[in-house]
Amino acid sequence: MLLLEGRHHIVVPCSPGIAQFLTRELRDLKMPIIEERSTSITTKGDFTEALKLNLYLRTGQRVLWRLASFKASDPDQLYEKLLPLPWEELVAADGYFSVTSVVDNPTIRDNRFANLRVKDAIVDRIRRLCGRRPDSGPKRDRLVFYLFWQQDEVKIYLDTSGPTLAQRDYRLDPGKAPLRETLAAAIIMAGGWNGAKNFINPMCGSGTLAIEAALIAQKRIPGLLRQAYSFQSLAGFKNMELLEMRAAALRKARPDRKIRLIASDIDPAMVRVAKENAERAGVADVIEFLCCDFAETPIPEGGGVLICNPEYGHRLGEEEELKLTYRRLGDFLKKKATGYEAFIFSGNRKLLKEIGLRVDRRWSFDNGGISCDLDAYPLYQGSRETG
Ligand SMILES: C[S@@+](CC[C@H](N)C(=O)[O-])C[C@H]1O[C@@H](n2cnc3c(N)ncnc32)[C@H](O)[C@@H]1O
Repeated sequence: MLLLEGRHHIVVPCSPGIAQFLTRELRDLKMPIIEERSTSITTKGDFTEALKLNLYLRTGQRVLWRLASFKASDPDQLYEKLLPLPWEELVAADGYFSVTSVVDNPTIRDNRFANLRVKDAIVDRIRRLCGRRPDSGPKRDRLVFYLFWQQDEVKIYLDTSGPTLAQRDYRLDPGKAPLRETLAAAIIMAGGWNGAKNFINPMCGSGTLAIEAALIAQKRIPGLLRQAYSFQSLAGFKNMELLEMRAAALRKARPDRKIRLIASDIDPAMVRVAKENAERAGVADVIEFLCCDFAETPIPEGGGVLICNPEYGHRLGEEEELKLTYRRLGDFLKKKATGYEAFIFSGNRKLLKEIGLRVDRRWSFDNGGISCDLDAYPLYQGSRETG
């Protein structure tokens, strides 16, 4: 297999704010960092490593395997250069694929035309060789090819993931305003939490932060949960390799330590949803779920990390009401969470000011198009200045 052999560039896109955590994950997996951008990291490796990244990465969106790069100045050249690639190694004659693209080329006004030329090259080659042609269309649940075409520089990738890797398959009911799983994992990494200390998550909503924390604590990779990846639709792909990778990862998963993970929410329906999600993720037995006002959340001795994602209402009136919640949250941290480091994630800086504690560090993230801050408040003895 030519297209899947050897070491290729592998691009992992991510949402804004996450790149530094994705880089850290790739380094931990012993992958080289070739290029760092704000919304993607490029590494290099063989195809088995690309599959492994799909299973292991907590903060990356998808894993793109570079198939080829060349120059083309117009759609005909694009077609001519794509036609000789051995697409039959990837796409079965009775298979299905879709094409998507990012194009900035003066001859292309509508990306769909560029996508069509990619599709034509793949279909024409396979029809010529096999007498039959694969189907293609907009569905992105099987093979997906990504075209990046900037001026005359073309890079064509196989999207080995399919639907975003944020989908771990444990959250069937997202609840209200849930965090993406990849963002929740990055927030926990920003908090420097690695499972050695207590983890407290008031206002847990659907439980994403607590569940991602429990998975990190147990060294359970997201790939032990997610059922389907695009690479499984590759012509002749044998699930054996995937099963072996999962089995190896499972052997490394560690049982719980003597720490406490506590998640609470005032809404009983959300607590129920969070518990169901944790059950599907296989971590329900390590998280203590409580239905209570955040101020009643128990804070065990021994210190640790407290992460909270309160609502940050954008409608008029909501903000006034929420000011009180944020003020109460600040009081709760001051009075009850000594010995912890607290992190508040919010899309409203005005409300964050109401916390009334000195911000030690700040990270910015994109949360579904809204720019959000994660503020750190160390609550060690003597560090509680207001500011
Ligand atoms: C933005 S959502 C959290 C979403 C969560 N991070 C997730 O991924 O699903 C905020 C949550 O705070 C809860 N909440 C609001 N006021 C509260 C209070 N006073 N005490 C505890 N929880 C509260 C809401 O029920 C809601 O589930």
